[in-house]
Amino acid sequence: MAEATIWSVGGYAPPHIITNTMLSEKMDTSDEWIRTRTGIRERRTGGPDETTATVSVEAGRAALEARGVSAEDLDWVFVCTDTPEMWSPATACFVQDMLGAKRASAIDLTGGCAGFLQTLQMLSPLAQSGKKLLVIGTELLTHAMNWSDRATAVLFGDGSGAFLMGPSDAGFDGIRVGHGLSRSDGSQTGILGKPYGGTRFPITPELVAQGQLHTIRMEGQKVFKHAVTMMSDIGRRVLEEAHLGLAQIDWVVPHQANQRIIDAVAHQVGIASDRVFSHVAHYANTGSASIGLALADMLEQSLIAPGQHLLSVAFGAGFSWASQLFYVDAVPPSKFLHAGSPA
Ligand code: UT7
Repeated sequence: MAEATIWSVGGYAPPHIITNTMLSEKMDTSDEWIRTRTGIRERRTGGPDETTATVSVEAGRAALEARGVSAEDLDWVFVCTDTPEMWSPATACFVQDMLGAKRASAIDLTGGCAGFLQTLQMLSPLAQSGKKLLVIGTELLTHAMNWSDRATAVLFGDGSGAFLMGPSDAGFDGIRVGHGLSRSDGSQTGILGKPYGGTRFPITPELVAQGQLHTIRMEGQKVFKHAVTMMSDIGRRVLEEAHLGLAQIDWVVPHQANQRIIDAVAHQVGIASDRVFSHVAHYANTGSASIGLALADMLEQSLIAPGQHLLSVAFGAGFSWASQLFYVDAVPPSKFLHAGSPA
C-alpha cells in the first residue's frame, strides 16, 4: 500500500529583519535578556504588501517549482495558520487562486504551533489514496503582537513552510510520513491564544477602545512547563509505538519555540543537542510555519540524507501537542527563499 510522502519542500522567510537591539529601542528589554532566556537573536517580518496569503504563495510555489509540479495538478491546498488573511473566506482560497490551482479544494486549519503536525497526521490518508496536496504552514505573528508586552513581543516571527505531498508509488521519492500522534487539552485554552474578536469575546466599542484586540496573550511559565513535558512525553511515546530507539533517530526536528524549551526537551528525551535542529536564533517562533521552515532550512544546509529517521515534536495553543516520525527515502528537492543575512 502507498504511503504519504513529502515530494518537495518550500520555505519563505520575509526579508525584513528585526534584531533584539531594534526591539530594545522600542521597549524595556535587551539583547542579553532575550538571548539568554530564549536563544533568539532576530526574527523576520513581512513587508507592508505582504499578507498571510502572499507569504503562503511564496512557500507553496517554491515547493511546486522545486519538484516541477504544476499548481493545476493539485487536488488540495491546505493552509495552517493562526494569523489568517481574513476571518472568512479561508486563506487557502486566496492561495489557491494566486497559485492557479484550478482543480483544487482549499481549506484552512487552525491548531496553534502544533497545528502543522496535526494537519499532516489528519491528511496523510488523502496522500496515500493518491491525491496531490500542498500543505502550507504560515504565520505573520508580528502582526499579532502586543508591542507593549515585552514578555511575548520578543518571541515570535513571520514565515511560511510548505510540503508538496502525494503517494509513495507515484514516481517521486522523498520523505515518508511515518507513525505520529497528537493530543489536545482544551481545559488550558486560557493560557495561550488570541482571544478577542470571536463569539466569546466579540468586538465591541469598549474592547476596541482598550486596543490590542488582535494580540497574543500568554502565561509564559505555564506554557514553558507544559511544552517541555508534553513534547518529551509524546516524542518518547511515538518512538515506543514505532519500536524505534533513540539511536535510530538522526535528527529531532522540534517546533522552534525557543532555545531553552528545545534544550529542555532534548535533555528529557535524552538525545544529544547536536542531533536536535534549531534555527530559532534567526527566525524565532513562527508558529504553524516552524516545522516546514525548519525542514526547508535543513535541506538547504544538506543536513538530510537518504536512510535518515527524523522525529518531530510540537506544542502550542489549545493546548495541543504532536509528534511525528519521518523516514527519508530520498532527499526531496527544496527551495528556501530567505533574503537578508543572519545576524
Ligand atoms: O509555542 C509556545 C510559545 N511560547 C513560548 O515559547 C514561551 C514559553 N515561555 C518561556 O519561554 C518563558 O516563560 C519566557 C521566555 C516567556 C519568559 O522567561 P521567564 O524566565 O519565565 O521569565 P519571567 O516571565 O519569570 O520573567 C522574569 C522577569 C520579570 O521581571 P521581574 O518581575 O522579575 O522584575 C519580567 O517582567 O523578566 C522580565 N521580562 C523581561 N525582561 C526583559 C519578561 N520579558 C522580558 C523581556 N525583556 N523581553
